[in-house]
Amino acid sequence: MSVTILAIESSCDDTGAAVLRDGRLLANVTASQKVHEAYGGVVPELASRAHQQHIVPVVDQALKQAGVALEELSAIAVTLGPGLMGSLLVGVSFAKGLATSLGIPLIEANHLQGHVLAHFIESTLPPPYPFLCLLVSGGNSQILRVDAYNKMTILGQTIDDAAGEAMDKCSKVMGFGYPGGPIIDRLARQGNPEAYQFARPNIAGLDYSFSGLKTSFLYFLRDHLREDPDFVEHHKEDLAASLERTIVDILMKKLKLAVKQTGIRHVALSGGVSANTALRQAFRNQEEAGNWHIYIPPFSYTTDNAAMIAITGYYKYLDGDYCPLEKPAYSRTTI
Ligand code: KG4
Repeated sequence: MSVTILAIESSCDDTGAAVLRDGRLLANVTASQKVHEAYGGVVPELASRAHQQHIVPVVDQALKQAGVALEELSAIAVTLGPGLMGSLLVGVSFAKGLATSLGIPLIEANHLQGHVLAHFIESTLPPPYPFLCLLVSGGNSQILRVDAYNKMTILGQTIDDAAGEAMDKCSKVMGFGYPGGPIIDRLARQGNPEAYQFARPNIAGLDYSFSGLKTSFLYFLRDHLREDPDFVEHHKEDLAASLERTIVDILMKKLKLAVKQTGIRHVALSGGVSANTALRQAFRNQEEAGNWHIYIPPFSYTTDNAAMIAITGYYKYLDGDYCPLEKPAYSRTTI
């Protein structure tokens, strides 16, 4: 009998629903929330309300696109955490209610585990176990050792800001829009990455830190704006390129160290920041130099999406790993 999973993702500001049958993706629908753009960041209360508006039409559209009726579902997978509590509760309550009414199992997915397992969605070339994964998003920067779909170990992680958060915050102080990552990426392509130098962290082991860079960037801007109030406008491409290069260098330095320490040369990239052109190029350079086998998912699977939750749910369903209905959503945790 075929296994059909409906997956729901609502951990931050995207409402997603996907349908997967026997490991094959039939539909992947995402409704983004434009409402946050005016505030320069995600406003949790507005996000919860937008999820409530989106959840029914998004699930409906996914089922229609897949050509799947509710009665054909084997289980419902949902992101239980980590994320914004109000946002998570919309998806989790909906999934619990639907699973109960259909009499089918509920499966919990960890959002971060989902980002890693995006590499196993049908249209991507999956890395062989064990592999390393650089998981970089708006809320996380981690180096993971992945031994199985359900066995991931954190080798290093940020002790303060995440890489995407650093891009978003620096973008905000320069007066660019939100989210800052794609804007900096676009501007950086016309800039000189060697134009300016910013502080780089010097911390032991495989952990990351981005708050020092953010502070040094702020002081640098303040000093230059005193001399030239239009400094950002005149130099935005060089500023973006230099900032981006610094962040990519910081990420790659620890990742190279992780490869050296573990001897694992299959290296994957996950999370929203993996859409970044310079980071992708840095990965490709390692492959061209013959150092690593690299795995970069398509753009549509790098940012928040329900397809990655569906594949997580599918593996768990095959293992009979169901979630009790009373298990609550959680806002904080790593893998
Ligand atoms: O994984 P994701 O969609 O969700 C959260 O973490 O919530 O990641 C979003 C992050 C944001 O910080 C955004 O600025 C960053 O990914 N991002 C990028 C690019 N596209 C998205 N950062 C750099 N370059 C990009 N092209």
